[in-house]
Amino acid sequence: MSQQRIISVMGLGYVGLTTAVAFAKIGKVIAYDVSPTRISELKNNHDSNHEVSDEDLLSTASNIFFTNSPTDLKKANLHIVTVPTPLDKNKHPDFSMLINASEAIGKQLKKGDIVVYESTVYPGATEEILIPILEKNSNLTYGKEFTAGFSPERINPSDKEHIFKNIIKIVSGTDNETLQIIAETYKAVVNAGVHYASSIRVAEACKIVENIQRDVNIALMNDIAILLHTLNIDTTDVMEGMKTKWNHLSFQPGLVGGHCIGVNSYYLMHKAQQVGYHSEMIAAGRHINEKIPKFIVDEAIKCLINQNVLIKGSRIAILGITYKENCPDTRDTRAIEIINALKSYGVDLFVNDPIADESQVKKDYGIDLVKWDDLNHLDAIIVAVSHLYYLTLKKDEFLKKLKRPGLMMDIKGIFKMDDFIDTGIQLWRL
Ligand SMILES: NC(=O)c1ccc[n+]([C@@H]2O[C@H](COP(=O)([O-])OP(=O)(O)OC[C@H]3O[C@@H](n4cnc5c(N)ncnc54)[C@H](O)[C@@H]3O)[C@@H](O)[C@H]2O)c1
Repeated sequence: MSQQRIISVMGLGYVGLTTAVAFAKIGKVIAYDVSPTRISELKNNHDSNHEVSDEDLLSTASNIFFTNSPTDLKKANLHIVTVPTPLDKNKHPDFSMLINASEAIGKQLKKGDIVVYESTVYPGATEEILIPILEKNSNLTYGKEFTAGFSPERINPSDKEHIFKNIIKIVSGTDNETLQIIAETYKAVVNAGVHYASSIRVAEACKIVENIQRDVNIALMNDIAILLHTLNIDTTDVMEGMKTKWNHLSFQPGLVGGHCIGVNSYYLMHKAQQVGYHSEMIAAGRHINEKIPKFIVDEAIKCLINQNVLIKGSRIAILGITYKENCPDTRDTRAIEIINALKSYGVDLFVNDPIADESQVKKDYGIDLVKWDDLNHLDAIIVAVSHLYYLTLKKDEFLKKLKRPGLMMDIKGIFKMDDFIDTGIQLWRL
């Protein structure tokens, strides 16, 4: 097998586009996506996810060939698959996009090709589900006529420090020769270098376990936050004290949304079930994190009743509807659960988000976003997502939007207790 590889990337979302552009800085890349709209915007040097800048797209345009024709994949001999791995409505792994992508690439596979999966899956998925699809669609024998690898992506959208080239890439492959080719390929674009996993299954497990470790640790802090509320102790104050210990772990309570952390726990639980194991810890973590939106709504209603505010028709603003700060992605956002629960009480809701795509929010959730300047006469504000935009506003900008008495529900801990003394506003922090 030659070391000189022509790269194709399948699925040009947050992960795929970042990867394709990184490789296009050093050579030719075939960049394939099933969505004609996505291909069209990328051909116009624009990424609506705001993950890759228009300048980077423009400067790599001569090396990157955007296409939605799978036959173009034949021009490459190392194929990187970065399609989504969501859950279905029963919270079971949805492999449909990975299966479709594997069928498409299988049909174009040639002797000596390598297929590298980056999409997050449970250990065993690549070899048990995807490679048989490649074999069937290519009529080639795995391990002899083509090989594969798994190299999880760890980018953190909107994080400007931990970016593609600064994050160590875990690599794995069918055999040593394939592993070396995959490692050298990524080393050319990842300054931080690579970590050699001992097998494809180990590489799959590394990614899923690192995300589950976060899910469970955040769940512990959410559990503690609920308890501390019952004890009338402020969680943020407790965390300030804890931070002074040398081995403190900086997990904060909060909403766990997005299509990675919460989703990955279900993937591993699914695999565990197949082998007859029930992970009580992972399940408990998910259970706790999923009840946080309801806890926040219950607390908001309790606070408003104590202020003699009539709940039906009360005016409440939700700040932030994306799944995390400074990222336009609204898929799997937990803020929507807060919104829906409040709606069921007959509250007048106003949702503001300076980053989210207005038309996408309308399409996915039927919500018309409200501009910041149009928020007024509010009984409560719930800061669900701490976008930089909110952090740069002065406290008075929030205060003047609230009636007296008023309620500020600060889920992200952006305010200090002192900020609201003698203002007629109650500050509630998770
Ligand atoms: N977004 C993240 O922060 C992140 C970080 C690390 C790992 N991951 C993992 O990477 C994978 C991709 O995530 P993402 O956030 O980049 O997804 P995404 O939803 O942003 O983008 C996926 C792209 O794949 C395309 N697509 C869907 N089916 C396809 C097919 N059959 N063939 C070709 N293209 C297809 C879609 O049109 C879309 O443009 C997932 O497994 C995810 O868990 C995501």
